This record gives sequence, C-alpha cells and structure tokens, in this order.
Amino acid sequence: MSNKQESPSTVDKKAGTTERFSSAGFILAAIGSSVGLGNMWKFTYVTGQNGGGAFFLLFIACLLIVGLPVLMGELAVGRAGRGDAVISFSKLSGKKWWGALGFVSVVAAFLVMTFYSTIAGWTLHYAVQSISGALFESTDYQAVYDTFTASTAPIWWQIAIFIITGIVIAKGISSGIEKFNKIVIPGLLIILVIMLVRTLTLDGAAEGIRYFLYPDFSQLTFTSALEALGLAFFSLSLGMGAMLTYGAYVEKHQSLSAATLAVGAGDLAYALIAGLIIFPTTFTFGIAPNSGPGLVFVALPAAFAAMPFGNLFGGLFFILLAIAAITSCLALIEVPVAYLMRKYGHGRTKATVFVMIAMYVLALPVTLAAGGALSDVTFAGRNLFDWLDFVTSNIMLPLGGLFVTILVGFVWKGAGEETGMKGWWLKAWLFSMRYIAPILIVLIFLKYAGII
Ligand code: TRP
Repeated sequence: MSNKQESPSTVDKKAGTTERFSSAGFILAAIGSSVGLGNMWKFTYVTGQNGGGAFFLLFIACLLIVGLPVLMGELAVGRAGRGDAVISFSKLSGKKWWGALGFVSVVAAFLVMTFYSTIAGWTLHYAVQSISGALFESTDYQAVYDTFTASTAPIWWQIAIFIITGIVIAKGISSGIEKFNKIVIPGLLIILVIMLVRTLTLDGAAEGIRYFLYPDFSQLTFTSALEALGLAFFSLSLGMGAMLTYGAYVEKHQSLSAATLAVGAGDLAYALIAGLIIFPTTFTFGIAPNSGPGLVFVALPAAFAAMPFGNLFGGLFFILLAIAAITSCLALIEVPVAYLMRKYGHGRTKATVFVMIAMYVLALPVTLAAGGALSDVTFAGRNLFDWLDFVTSNIMLPLGGLFVTILVGFVWKGAGEETGMKGWWLKAWLFSMRYIAPILIVLIFLKYAGII
C-alpha cells in the first residue's frame, strides 16, 4: 500500500527513508489500507458470531479508546523513526533489543497474508461467478459456498492472487495500483450505498437492523472483548508495522491527529454500512448470522439476487473488493520484504520471491483448512485457518500495539512533540498511551488466559 519501491538513493543511512507522501495521498493511502476485507468479511462475521449490537458497541469502544491512540502512536513512531517497525523501535528507544519487539509485527504481517489471500481468492471467484450469472443459478447460497470451499478451486484462486500480486510487485507498479485506491475506495462506497437502499427495504430489514444496532449485552461472552479489540486492530491495520511504515513517508508539517480521525471515521463508516447490508439480508433470507467466515459470501449473493442488475452490481462489487484486497496483500508482503532488504541487504526481487514462496507454503494448508480437506483437522476446537485468524488478530496485533504504547508512553520522550498536539488533547493522548490502552490490553489478555 505504498510507494516503497525505493532505490537505495531514497534510504539515507542516518535520516532513514527520504520518500514522502503528499498530504492527500497519505490520507487516502491510510484509509485505503484500513478499508478492506476486514470491514466487509471479518467485521460482519465476527459481529454475527458475537451476537450483534452489543459487540458492535464494544468494537466502537475499542476503536476509540485503544485503536485511535495506538494509530496516532504508530504514525508518530514511523515519522520520527523514518523506517520499518524493527529499526524505528530500536532507534527511538535507544536500545537495540527493542527491535525484537518490532519483529513481532513483521511475523504478524507474514501470517495474516496466509489467510487474507485465501479470502481474497474467494472474492475473485465470486466476481467471476456473479458476472457470468452462474452464482445465481441456485438459491441455496450456503450450499454453493460449501461446495466451492470444499473443492480445489480456492487453491487456484489463491494462486491467482499470489501471481497477480507478484506481477504488480515485479513490475514495480505498486504506486500505480495504489492510485487505483482512489477509484476503488469511493467506488465501493457507491455500490455499498446502492445495496443499502435495497437491503434496507427487505422484509427482514427491521429485524436485521435491530440485531446489529440494538445492544443485547447478554449475548457477550468474555472472548467478545478480546475479539472486539483484535478486530479494531485488524480493521485499522494496526500492530503489524503497516501504519508505522506509512508514518515514515509523512511530511513533518502534516497533522497526524487529522489523519487519525479521518482513518477512524472512514473505517467505522465502512463497517457500519457493511453491517447494515449484511444483517437485514441474513434475517430476510434465513441465513444464520453466526455462520462464521463464509457469512458475506452466503449473504451477499442473496442480496444481489434481490436487486435489479444484481449480477452486474455483484460482479463490480466483488472486483472492487478483490482489488482492495490485492492492495492490502501488497502492503502485507511489503512489511517482511522491507525488513529482509534492510537487515540482510537482499535486493527487492530476491526478498520478495523468498517471502512469497515462504508465505505460500503456509497459505496452501490454510486454504485447505477453510472448508476444504483440512477443515476438520482441528486442535482445541479450531482448524489451521481459524487458529491463524484468531492468533494474529487477537494476540499478535494487540501485542504489537502494546509495545507501541509502552514505547510512546514511557520510553521515547519525543512522542508528544512529534504529534504536534498541544494542551488537553496531548495530555489525553499521552494518558491513554500510558495507562488506558496498555492496561486494557493487558487486562483483556490476562482475563482471557484465565489468570484473573
Ligand atoms: N485493515 C485491513 C482490512 O480491514 C487489513 C489489514 C490489516 C491490512 N493489516 C494490514 C492491510 C496491513 C494492509 C496492511 O482489510
């Protein structure tokens, strides 16, 4: 998700990277990074599994109280460090071992790519099926989904995602495809609003909206708190060094608080609209809202089938979502690639080929676990896909965020100045970074681990 095609000349040994975003370019890129499969696919299925409205409130609370302060922290750390998570962590803390904490983010990005590419592949398949009309030949979209995920087709679609991503990287047109985001993100919004008009007039709309927006706290379990926190991190692209790396390309005079608010508002808006589309649809067509990672792929075809020109809208929607997902894949790959290039002096091509092959070795069994041959191979109730989805979002990303709060709150003294904030806002932010965000993260971890 960025212009990190740096030739050596753009990385100064002392000053770090010398590449810069334009102001508007940065805000768009940051919103582009946060809006993706996380809002449509993950947000809706996790909310559905956690009973709806009360979980949505919890998600908003996590976004505001922990997510936005950490986002601001990542941007500040990146801008002051002018490099990837590992180097910026050690530079600003003044201690080399802090780099090891930054390394958690690099591993998280690597692992997220393995299942993110699975879902991105599904999106491509659904785009093709929607345009050809084949998707609408049956009305039992659950059966269509089950048959598709149990077949070998997802493997090929995932390979397609790897190949497309690889070509984009090899051609170095990453900055070109990033410009796509300027079309894709507003384009998705337009289609979503059109869909919204349809889904809000479905028979089950009232019931769906009530499920999504009316908080019924009896639906929450303790794991919900962990999942809401993890989802907020995933959705804002936090805890894996991605926003931090973006921060490295931001001009000093740009307002980080304005960027933080824009990204938070954009991300929340897409999640809200996604929920307002999915839940009325599930209630109208008798789809269980807690049916898991397949939710949007079962619900959306039903919504498109109920719309005029549904196959065209469906095709367009899934293509835009696939492009949004591919741009996220580029950013995810870039995190370990940037690390390898700097650490071992590999060239970009060598580092990319190495990272992509290593990713694919893990991505293949992950795809087979998502409805395919390995889906019944479980360990403590979760298969490989579920484990990676769960551990990265709910453990590794909050942990990456925790390190940022400690660095900003206690170790690096220049954080306040870097943000350019003053007075009450600055105090509130520092207070959150020192006490509220880290304590909440730790409490949720301890409680989940059964220690308190
Ligand atoms: N936030 C993205 C989404 O909602 C997913 C994501 C998480 C991501 N971390 C990232 C994308 C890092 C790019 C880079 O889909």
